[in-house]
Amino acid sequence: MNAALEQIKQEILSGAEEIKSSKEAYEFRKKFLDGKTGKIGLLMREMKNIPPEQRADYGKGVNELKEWAMGIISELDTKMKAKELQERYEAEKIDISLPPQGSEQGNLHPITLIRNQLIDIFAGMGFEIYEGTEIETDYYNFTALNTPQDHPARDMQDTFYLSPEFLLRTQTSAGQIHVMENKKPPIKILSPGKVFRSDDDATHSPMFTQMEGLVVDKGITLCDLQGMLDVFVKKIYGENTKTRLRPSYFPFTEPSVEVDCSCFECGGKGCKLCKGTGWIEILGAGVVNNKVLENCGIDPNEYSGFAFGIGIERTAMLKYGINNIKLLFESDLRVLKQLND
Ligand code: PHE
Repeated sequence: MNAALEQIKQEILSGAEEIKSSKEAYEFRKKFLDGKTGKIGLLMREMKNIPPEQRADYGKGVNELKEWAMGIISELDTKMKAKELQERYEAEKIDISLPPQGSEQGNLHPITLIRNQLIDIFAGMGFEIYEGTEIETDYYNFTALNTPQDHPARDMQDTFYLSPEFLLRTQTSAGQIHVMENKKPPIKILSPGKVFRSDDDATHSPMFTQMEGLVVDKGITLCDLQGMLDVFVKKIYGENTKTRLRPSYFPFTEPSVEVDCSCFECGGKGCKLCKGTGWIEILGAGVVNNKVLENCGIDPNEYSGFAFGIGIERTAMLKYGINNIKLLFESDLRVLKQLND
């Protein structure tokens, strides 16, 4: 019998040397120590065939062999697992000396930048934002703004009509009416948004962005408009920038003005940007026409106001020195990356 135990012992000793992984160690353990099928387990089951007087010795011998085998195989298992962990560490090693790949940083579109900048400036003067809708009725876009059906000023803007009644707004001025219909003075709103006109060349696009401003209160005059614009141009184009008003015409303002600022490129001496004049046109504005106030149920004897409309693309083109509006819409990252401050 001792020979059988001795043989298993030898088998374990020589087998252990062949083990290369924790998985093999696991199989090895099963081969010898599994309660039902393992070689040592089977020796235990032999007990009933052993003559009773030898059983005690036999049992002791098998138990000793089992204890010994468990020790050997556990040690083997621990060794294999440690070796495998080490191999994994080696394989997954990170080379922290490699230079980083660097992440691409996006930036806001120039139109968004200018829009935000204008909103910041006017919000600082107490203006609230009102965003109207891009689809408007003929009434809000024209008629209520003192531009009835057969008014010649309708020709100033080539309109995309959706139906005889609905159209794509040609100006954010439509928002003025909504605000005045719904709010009692004092009113101080800023209305940024997309507008649409059938117009397409180097400086015009069928879709562009405007920023409307409207102030209505007691005793508002053209001087208030100019004072506010002075602050505005200094903030956006620099402390030394001046403004001047030129007479103009819009049906919804009376008087109407075209606002110029002194050329921020040459300081007013005359250059390519200002076409030698020293001045650059930046927006249209005026005192709100009494008829418009009346259309909105505001008494012109009690209240007056001013309005202005700024073209954002135009402002961006002037600021960044772009001569084609399409550059702002083509989403060419090589261009957009340069226009980000
Ligand atoms: N709505 C005018 C335009 O689009 C601009 C404007 C706004 C003029 C407000 C006067 C007052 O040309």
